[in-house]
Amino acid sequence: MCGIIGYIGEREIVPVLIGGLKRLEYRGYDSAGICVINNGLNVVKKKGKIFELENQPELKEIKGKIGIAHTRWATHGEPNKTNAHPHLDCNKEIAIVHNGIVENYHSLKKLLENEGHKIISNTDSEIIAHLIEKFYSKDLEEAVIKTLKLIKGTFGLAIIHKNENKIIVAKRGSPLIIGIGEGEMFVASDVSAILDYTKKVIYLRDNEIAEITKDNYSIKNLEREKVDGKIHEIQWTINQIEKGNFEHFMLKEIFEQPEAIENILRGRLKKGKIKLSLNLDVGQINKIIIVACGTSWHSGLIGKYLIEEITQIPVEVDYASEFRYRNPIVNENDLVIAISQSGETADTLAALKEAKSKNAKTIGIVNVVGSTITQDVDCGIYLHAGPEIGVASTKAFTSQVMTLLLFALYIKQEKGFEIEKKMLEELENLPGKIREILEKSEEIKKIAENFKESSNFLYLGRGLNFPVALEGALKLKEISYIHAEGYPAAEMKHGPIALIDKNMPVVFLATKNNYSNKILSNMQEVKARGGRIVAVVNEKTSEIDKLADYVIEVPETLNYLSPIINVIALQLIAYYIANFKEIDVDKPRNLAKSVTVE
Ligand code: F6R
Repeated sequence: MCGIIGYIGEREIVPVLIGGLKRLEYRGYDSAGICVINNGLNVVKKKGKIFELENQPELKEIKGKIGIAHTRWATHGEPNKTNAHPHLDCNKEIAIVHNGIVENYHSLKKLLENEGHKIISNTDSEIIAHLIEKFYSKDLEEAVIKTLKLIKGTFGLAIIHKNENKIIVAKRGSPLIIGIGEGEMFVASDVSAILDYTKKVIYLRDNEIAEITKDNYSIKNLEREKVDGKIHEIQWTINQIEKGNFEHFMLKEIFEQPEAIENILRGRLKKGKIKLSLNLDVGQINKIIIVACGTSWHSGLIGKYLIEEITQIPVEVDYASEFRYRNPIVNENDLVIAISQSGETADTLAALKEAKSKNAKTIGIVNVVGSTITQDVDCGIYLHAGPEIGVASTKAFTSQVMTLLLFALYIKQEKGFEIEKKMLEELENLPGKIREILEKSEEIKKIAENFKESSNFLYLGRGLNFPVALEGALKLKEISYIHAEGYPAAEMKHGPIALIDKNMPVVFLATKNNYSNKILSNMQEVKARGGRIVAVVNEKTSEIDKLADYVIEVPETLNYLSPIINVIALQLIAYYIANFKEIDVDKPRNLAKSVTVE
């Protein structure tokens, strides 16, 4: 949600900043701007996507060695040029770019206006520039610290002053990294912005501030005491953050799922044993609570089925946004698992905080290495799915489900039980089975074409495939703007059946499991009312042929693994329908990757 890049060094600065913004565009794309120091502050801003900023003629004139830039996803104030970052103080000496939310901005704005500051935008961020101006007397770091002590809320910040050869950055609840080069330094909200130049990064922790010059950096806490920053070597490659031959990141990421699953298993499944580096006494766990949002919440629901069945430990799954405020019953014998692709989701972070305040043990299941959640939990499991840039989450979802299954099997193993040979074999077979379903993408595309005019969809599944139905519906609505709902198939007759007519497509997850026959009865109920049926099955039978208008055959696997296979068919349906509707699936309206605000 919003992206920041900053640079200090000898390169031509505009291409570095614009290039970085393009890499960050998936985090927000309603307006963008840059500011470079050269005889004062040179600012160019534009409403719209990065290419519109890039096409501004003034940009060609800008030279300099220090600059910051921002791509925005609007929270306070509509997307327009004035509200775009960077924001300046009254004297146009200080520029800031900000991710996050200043919760007490109304009172701070009033205070500043009473002191004569002219605030020109409707954003909460602009007041940061004015507060720094208020406190500035030739020491930028000091002025920033005084400002940060006044601010309530979250920030990832980069700040420059026209007379100072440095960038100041700060973090609380919104990511900020320092990229270390040779005679040059980068700052960014996300490693993908700087991966073209360096793989050495430091992840700032909450309430840290850093002063960055061309050759050096110094990190402090808000008491101005020095703190160490651990340098990490990024494993992601440039190829991973480029689309390659794919039309969209989303499609690329759907096709990366066999490797993503292989990556999770690599090093964690050895000679029939699950190896996870978790500092956890599994015998002590009384109850598990999973907290997450959106797609990650759906994987959590599947996790509940898996963990309860495999370990017999009770599991609750909560929306992180609800958990954080409902005074949940949690204690030191409970384990709270936070699931998050980005590791930065504000609600999930707050839910973790709530869990920790009640002394629960915490685990993170996270994709982005070094992200805030990974800094806040007692221990964790990385997905290692590689960067997920498409706004709609795909490979992170299947990786999360796989990780939850490994976690459940690990508990079983640690409790002294053997993991069945059939399960171990099927884990090895899974990437191959995913490749089989991906080979059907053209077939699925043809089916999708029939639904480009639809305005509603129902997705139905049972057991482990009920959350898959929810996820299929979410994928469709996010990127095609078609209203879609997921239900447990048996719930259909308790209400949604009223919606069924010839205009209502219904997707059934009807792969083999204990409920297959019951799902067939549900299909009959839909057929009898004229609904159009898409069935995801393991095998075409004459009965399915009679009932379903369209059939997608997916490889058979163990019930525990079926969500991973089945959801891929639904990801492809959603992708192709959105593509037929000519929607930019990587940048669907109103959405942005990583929701770092409440
Ligand atoms: C859906 C999607 C969102 C995220 C949700 C949580 O495709 O991407 O629903 O799953 O915002 O994000 P993370 O997993 O980063 O915490």
